Amino acid sequence: MQQLDVRHCRSLFPSLALEEGGRSVAYLDAPAGTQVPRMVGDSITTYFRDANANVGGAYRTSRATDRIIAEARAAMADLLGAEADEIAFGANMTTLTYTLSRALGQTLTEGDEVVVTEMDHEANVSPWRALTERGAAVRTLPMDPATCQLAPLETCLGPRTRVVALGYASNALGTVNAVRRAASLCREAGAILVVDAVHYLPHAPVDVKDLDCDFLLASTYKVFGPHLGLLYGRKAAFEKLPAYRLRVQRPYPPEKLETGTLNHEGLAGLLGTAAFLEDIGRRAGGKGDRRQILRAAMTAIADHGKALGERLYRGLAGLPGVRVFGPLPGARRTPTYSFTLAGRTPRQVAEHLGSRGVFVSDGDFYAPGPIERLGLAGSGGLVRAGLAPYNDAEDVARLLECVTELAG
Ligand SMILES: Cc1ncc(COP(=O)(O)O)c(C=O)c1O
Repeated sequence: MQQLDVRHCRSLFPSLALEEGGRSVAYLDAPAGTQVPRMVGDSITTYFRDANANVGGAYRTSRATDRIIAEARAAMADLLGAEADEIAFGANMTTLTYTLSRALGQTLTEGDEVVVTEMDHEANVSPWRALTERGAAVRTLPMDPATCQLAPLETCLGPRTRVVALGYASNALGTVNAVRRAASLCREAGAILVVDAVHYLPHAPVDVKDLDCDFLLASTYKVFGPHLGLLYGRKAAFEKLPAYRLRVQRPYPPEKLETGTLNHEGLAGLLGTAAFLEDIGRRAGGKGDRRQILRAAMTAIADHGKALGERLYRGLAGLPGVRVFGPLPGARRTPTYSFTLAGRTPRQVAEHLGSRGVFVSDGDFYAPGPIERLGLAGSGGLVRAGLAPYNDAEDVARLLECVTELAG
C-alpha cells in the first residue's frame, strides 16, 4: 500500500486557491465540513444540464435521475460495506436521526430505556431524549474528563435497554469509541445500536457488517461531498422499523424513510465524491472492486491523518500556555485536535488565525456535553483544528506560527 499523494489530492480541490490577506487559505475546519474536489461541482453542473427531472418518469432525464439515485446508494454502500438497499438519504444527519428516533419511539413502552452519551454531538442526543415523551427513561453514559473516554457501556445497560445511541468518534475531542464492542453488548442485551459516524467516516475505513450495528448515520458534507445526510440500516432492523411515511411512499427500505423529493443534484455530486475517493484509492495502490479501492483510499487518508496529526499535536503541546485535550496521538483517535490558549478565548484565537488565512472552529461544536464536563462551557469552549487529506505540513506549520504569535 502506498502513501496518500497529497500534492495530487490538493490539486483536485479548487477552493484551496482562495486567499486571505495575500496568503492561500489553510482549511483546518474539516470537522465542520470538508472542502470538495472539483468532481463534485462538475457532477452537479452536469446533472442540472443533462438529467434534471423528478423520479419515475417515462422519459430520458427522469430515467437518468433514477439511475443517479441508485448509483449514489451503491457508491455509499461500497464506502460502508453495506448493500445498496440499506442506504437512505436525507437532508442531513440530524434530520435523519429525528426521523429514526420517532420511528423507533413507536416500538417503546413506558419504562423502556434509551442510552445516550455525554460525549456525543447533540444530533445523537436530543432526538433520543425526545423519547421521554413516550415514557422512555434516558440514561447518559458519562465521560471521564481526565482521559476523555466514555465509561464502559455495561454500566448503563439493563434489562429494559431498547436503544443505545453512540458516537463512533467525538467531533470535539477526536476520541474514537469502542463501537464493535458496544454492538456485541447491545446484541446480548437485545438493544438496537445506533451509531453516529459523522466524525469518524472522513478519517478511516468503515465496515458496518464487521461492526454489526443496526443503524449508522453520517453526513456527506464531512466526507468531501455535498450537504446531505446518510443512513445505513441493517436489513433486518430496517425492515422492522415502523417509519412514518406517506400512503403513496414505498413501504420498504430504503425509501420508507425518505419523505419527499430527494436532493437529486446533491446525489449526483456524491458520485463525484465517490470518483474522487476511487482516484485516491487507486493511486494508493488499491486494487479489485470499488469497495476494495474505497477502503484503500480511506486507509491512505487514515495514515496521512495519523502522521500529520502527530506533528500537529507535538507542535501545539510544545507551545507555552497551550493545553491540548483528548487522547494522545498513539491512541485510537481522529486527527482532530482541540486546545485552549491561556489568556485568550477560543473565539479570539480563531479570529486571529482566521485573519491570517488559517481557518479553525471554536466553541462547543454542538457537543456541549464534553465541553461542560471539561469545565470549559463558561470560557468559550475549545479551538478545534481538524485534518483532512488536502492538508499538508505547511498548513500545520502556519497554524503553529499563528498560535505562537498569540502565545508570545
Ligand atoms: C459528530 C457529529 N454528529 C452529528 C452532526 C450533525 O450532522 P448534520 O449537520 O449532518 O446534521 C455533526 C455535525 O457537526 C457531527 O460533527
